[in-house]
Amino acid sequence: MESLEEKIKQASDLKILENVRIEIFGKKGVLAAQFAKMKEIPNEEKKEFAKNLNIQKAKLTELFDTKKMMLQSQAIAEMMAKDGVDVTMYHAKSSSGALHPVMQTMQKMIDYFVALNFSVEEGPFIEDDFHNFEALNLPKHHPARDMQDTFYLNDSMVLRTHTSPVQIRTMQKEKPPIRMISPGSVFRRDFDLTHTPMFHQVEGLMVDVEGKISFANLKWILEDFLRYMFGDVAVRFRPSFFPFTEPSTEVDISCIFCEGKGCRVCSHTGWLEILGSGMVDPNVFEAVGYKDVSGYAFGVGVERVAMLTHRIGDLRSLFEGDLRLLEQFR
Ligand code: DAH
Repeated sequence: MESLEEKIKQASDLKILENVRIEIFGKKGVLAAQFAKMKEIPNEEKKEFAKNLNIQKAKLTELFDTKKMMLQSQAIAEMMAKDGVDVTMYHAKSSSGALHPVMQTMQKMIDYFVALNFSVEEGPFIEDDFHNFEALNLPKHHPARDMQDTFYLNDSMVLRTHTSPVQIRTMQKEKPPIRMISPGSVFRRDFDLTHTPMFHQVEGLMVDVEGKISFANLKWILEDFLRYMFGDVAVRFRPSFFPFTEPSTEVDISCIFCEGKGCRVCSHTGWLEILGSGMVDPNVFEAVGYKDVSGYAFGVGVERVAMLTHRIGDLRSLFEGDLRLLEQFR
């Protein structure tokens, strides 16, 4: 047994130590052989023999464990000195990130339209008056400009108040037919339970030769889109006004909380207002130099949809960066 102890002590690396382990503790090792001898030992000596053997075994085990730990840290130290980094070292669990719930909702919307071959277009956050207002049939001093609380940077530049200017930019650079969406941030001077100064919209536009695209196309795609987003809901088109569309319509879904019976969320109407849309106003086509075309457009607020589908009461909470809230949406 002395010599076994010596063998452990002498082992100069983990590989040698492993061989020593097999020799001593293995199935066919020295200890196993000793225990096997028990059979041949007279009964009255058995107890003493077993006791001694167990003491030996415990001693060897302790010696072995200590040696192994020593050689392991030595190996790590050598590796650190050589490579500078220990990729095998234990590290505390780190949590992985995830898309923000608003971005998850926006991505779901994008997926729908991309599957129908809509292109995804982007535009600048800082817009000129022409693209944000004028070309969208909102001339200076038009009362409809009051619908939007605009951040003016100077007389002619604004933070875009909607993603509709990307319609204009896309039509300016491409010929019809057009089939596009533009997702992105928009900015308005507004701050309460359901409004933040920055929020997101997805704008959609489809244009083709005159007569090819009708209100029926608009109605079909929005109904289908809203059922994709909200499940089995009723969809209602309500006459409305937007300067850039004629006719214009606002689209509601049956309340997903009370199934149309009427509750606090839907102000007891049974309906939730979701988006604005209509047939593109001829003045818009004129502003971009399009002739003999027709088309539809729509715009949807992403936060409103995220709030409804995730049942979030206060929109502002989504922008506070509180991980306890955000982690629920992983
Ligand atoms: N731009 C509108 C807004 O920000 C949303 C909108 C309504 C876009 C109707 C459209 C539309 O394209 O047809 O409130």
